[in-house]
Amino acid sequence: MDSDLSLDFLTVVEQAAIACAHTMGQGDRHKSDQAAVEAMRRCMDSVPIDGTIVIGEGERDEAPMLFIGERVGLATKSEWQGMVLPKIDIAVDPLEGTNLCATGEPNAIAVLAASESGGLLHAPDMYMDKLVVGPSSKHAVSLDATPAENLRAIARCLERDVEDLVVVVLERERHQKLIADIRATGARIRLIGDGDLSAGIAAAVVGSGVHAVMGTGGAPEGVLTAAAMRCLNGEIFGRLVVAKAGDEERCKAMGISDPKRIYTSKDLASGENIIFAATGVTDGALMKGVRFFGDGVRTSSLIMQSQPARIRFIDTIHVEQARMVRVRF
Ligand code: FBP
Repeated sequence: MDSDLSLDFLTVVEQAAIACAHTMGQGDRHKSDQAAVEAMRRCMDSVPIDGTIVIGEGERDEAPMLFIGERVGLATKSEWQGMVLPKIDIAVDPLEGTNLCATGEPNAIAVLAASESGGLLHAPDMYMDKLVVGPSSKHAVSLDATPAENLRAIARCLERDVEDLVVVVLERERHQKLIADIRATGARIRLIGDGDLSAGIAAAVVGSGVHAVMGTGGAPEGVLTAAAMRCLNGEIFGRLVVAKAGDEERCKAMGISDPKRIYTSKDLASGENIIFAATGVTDGALMKGVRFFGDGVRTSSLIMQSQPARIRFIDTIHVEQARMVRVRF
């Protein structure tokens, strides 16, 4: 990626977040998701790229837009035919935490990751076992270790007691044993209804109050988490969960020959040039949600790049009626 596309991608996630934030708390997850998808798709074609969606809303026959393999960006416009634009792979989750937005709960975000072509794993839409930790403990943990072993290692790296750690776990039936095992160590648990991607980002940020994310969540979210970890120097360890008939074939069809492999961030998001962009839809630990105030809208975003390595928190006031605007901190 020669040109700096980060601000173009910032606009894409901002617009998706604003669109679905209008539906916050209305109890209609499909409406929320649709609003985010449509806004993101519309905005994506103004980005000066020859882009391909590698992780999106589903296969071509099940998703009308942002489907896997869809071409996006200015290169799709007839007036740009023949112009050379950078070939970029894009992973999107227009609304990560559809239920969170529909119920007005914290931590819903609009998010995407981008890389030069070939730099993001084409993960099938299945589950992934995940362990996400921050920079200081990433060399001390393993997906094959028990929760107790990992928590002792994290506590050692962070120079604190296991009882002082906070682990985020999705509140799911399948996590009963994991939760019991973590509780047995004395570590504290934050159960979340949805949104293990936001939690993963928090685990890599010192001072967020989250020290690890453990459990099984979506593989696409795993790739997006990996892109964030590449920029934050944290780590995700992930292994696809091959549980249902046909899962192995689905992996093969996506070029994954060893579905039992443990992936790291560098495997899931291998690109040299990674961009990660997220805008808060509802309030979260790192980003505030979208705020509407009559004559404008205020968004809070996180834009990160691997090269040059930089992390920016961007607060934008989208002015709708310039005469009326009153800026306030
Ligand atoms: P959506 O935004 O698609 O609703 O996904 C939210 C999420 O909670 C992810 O953060 C997580 O990885 C996945 O769903 C877990 O899947 P499931 O709800 O099937 O346990």
